[in-house]
Formats: sequence, structure tokens, C-alpha cells
Amino acid sequence: MRETVDVDLPGRAYQVRIGPGLIAEAGAQIAPLLARKQVCVVTDTNVAALHLEGLRAGLAMAGIEMTALTLPAGEATKSWPHLCDTVEWLLDQKVERGDVVLAFGGGVIGDLVGFAAAILRRGVRFVQTPTSLLAQVDSSVGGKTGINAPQGKNLIGAFHQPALVLADTGILSSMAQRDFLAGYGEVVKYGLLGDAAFFEWLEANGPALASGDPALRVEAVRHSVQMKADIVMRDEKEHGDRALLNLGHTFCHALEAATGYSDRLLHGEGVAVGCALAFELSARMGLCPQEDPSRVRAHLKAMGMKTDLSDIDGDLPDAAALLDLMGQDKKVVAGRLNFILARGIGQAFVTNEVPHEAVLGVLEDALAARG
Ligand code: GLY
Repeated sequence: MRETVDVDLPGRAYQVRIGPGLIAEAGAQIAPLLARKQVCVVTDTNVAALHLEGLRAGLAMAGIEMTALTLPAGEATKSWPHLCDTVEWLLDQKVERGDVVLAFGGGVIGDLVGFAAAILRRGVRFVQTPTSLLAQVDSSVGGKTGINAPQGKNLIGAFHQPALVLADTGILSSMAQRDFLAGYGEVVKYGLLGDAAFFEWLEANGPALASGDPALRVEAVRHSVQMKADIVMRDEKEHGDRALLNLGHTFCHALEAATGYSDRLLHGEGVAVGCALAFELSARMGLCPQEDPSRVRAHLKAMGMKTDLSDIDGDLPDAAALLDLMGQDKKVVAGRLNFILARGIGQAFVTNEVPHEAVLGVLEDALAARG
């Protein structure tokens, strides 16, 4: 049960290796990249408690010594102070240009450590070892690294591709179900944006893979990573097609801001709700068949996922305020909102021709349905 996806970027090609048991063989996987048999690992408290000793043993099997920095778990770690701590710790460890830094965690750790590696000594190599479904299918692949600013998420960063990604799907069974399903929001996104047959496969296999079927998990991660790799190879720096990966994200970012980036709404949950809203908007604009939004929502509901605004606890601002929050999104170009809409399931496209009234209408009705 091992799969490999090649991210074939000129001069920066790397592999994403996918399957159970990769952490236990981390040493053999990473050894060919190392000039000397030592590696600096950056992780968070949650991952360290569960998996750091397993990683240490996996590296030791190939005679590789590890030193680790354990940061607090949570989004607040993606900040200047923790970036500063990480870079200075790596310098204290005397990391050289020929060394490899290992990011061991979910999206927060991957983004932060990737950025630290990008700026340390003007760039050292790093290995992503993503421990969440979201990180395995999205953030560990494609080279977007960075931290948050008080002005918004991910506003400070660099493109810095990893040298290798080890996606150990066995580790996913230690995830809380809510976190797993949030990551699944990004998996569904791939089907919705570019592959109707994959969406159909998810409709058939999603419940079994959420229940833990190992082979289905490998296939869902492989397919998602392959789709992401194909897009990144066409458009690494997001001048065009890469924006398709933001399906659902304009709505999602407004909802995340409205809920204070708290556990009222996890990022992947916001992506799922955002995808349902993007299909609703597409249908209302006459772009996609009327039945598509219901089909999207039916699958999310069948998975037990957040689907509608009524699934978000607590107060939400009114439609105009949500629209305003969308205007803070990075995807605003020359004052116009860049939206990812769809001509059908698997047929997303980028547009900035979305009347504000249409978005307001979708939001007003979605808020009214909360009762
Ligand atoms: N997560 C979106 C991207 O990597 O472009």
C-alpha cells in the first residue's frame, strides 16, 4: 500500500510518498537527502506527545540522530515570535546549508517550518511529514509557506518547495474524527473543482474511508495529491489555475473571520460550507445545473460534516458584514472579488465577474435558513 506522486518542477522536483508506516521508516526515506546523519525536527505539543518517539526510532533505524523543537499546538503559533524562536533554534543547532529540517505536524507546523527553512541561510531544504489529513492532501504539497499577520492569515511568506513529503496515512487513525472530517473538506474540494469521477468515487467510498479503511485512505490522499501536483506543475506561483484550489475559500475566509478563527469553525469545515455556497451561487447565476448544489450538500451531510450556516454554532454577522469580510480576502484584485465558481461538478473556473447582489442573496438566504 505505497504510492508516490512526483511533483516535477524544474530544478525543484520532489516526491510525495504516501502510505501507512512511513514514519517508522523515516530514516531510510530521508537518509539519501542527508550530508550528515542528523536532522532537526520541529513539531507541536500534540504531535510530539503521540508520535515524536516513533519518529525518533524510525530515524535511529538508519543511524540518524534527531533534535527536536516542540512548539505550542494551534494557529497562534504561525506568528513572528514562533518563527523567530524556530529560526534562532535552528541556528543554535548549527544547521548548515547542506542539512535538512523536518516539519512534523499539521498545516501550522508545515507552513511555519517551511518559511523558516526558506529564510534560514537564504534557504535550506526541508522535509514535510504531515500528520493531519488536511496537511497531507493540501498544505504540505506545493511550496506555500508562511505565517499569519495581525492584518490577516498567511500574509507573510514565501514559495519554498519541500525536498520530500512523507504522508504516513497510518497516523491519520490517531486524529479526532472532527479534525479528520475537516481535512476531508479539502478532499471533496478536489472532486468538485476538477474531477467529477473522483467526486462520484467519494460519494461511494467516503463513509468507509472516514471509518478507517486504510486502502481507501491511501487512494483518497494519492488522488488529491496528484490533482494538486498537476495544478502546481502548471502554475506554481498562482498566476492562473492554482487559484482553483481556492474553491470555497472566499466564503470560508469570511466565515473563519466571523467566528474568530476559533474551534466554532475549523478551516476544512469552512471549506466544505464554502464549497456548498459556491455551488449555490453558481446555480443561481445559471452557470451550473440546479441539482448540483443539493448533490454537494447531500454528500457533506452523509459524511456528517458541517454543510450549512445553520451548522455553525453561535451568532453570525449579517450578509452585508460577511460580504465585507470577503473583501478583506487575499483574493481581491483591483478591488474586485475573485471567485471560484463552477459550470458543474468537477468544472470550476476563476472569475471576477460576480455581482455583489448575487453573493448577498445567497448569504441572506443561508442566514435566514438558520431560523
Ligand atoms: N492551499 C492552496 C494552495 O496551495 O494553493
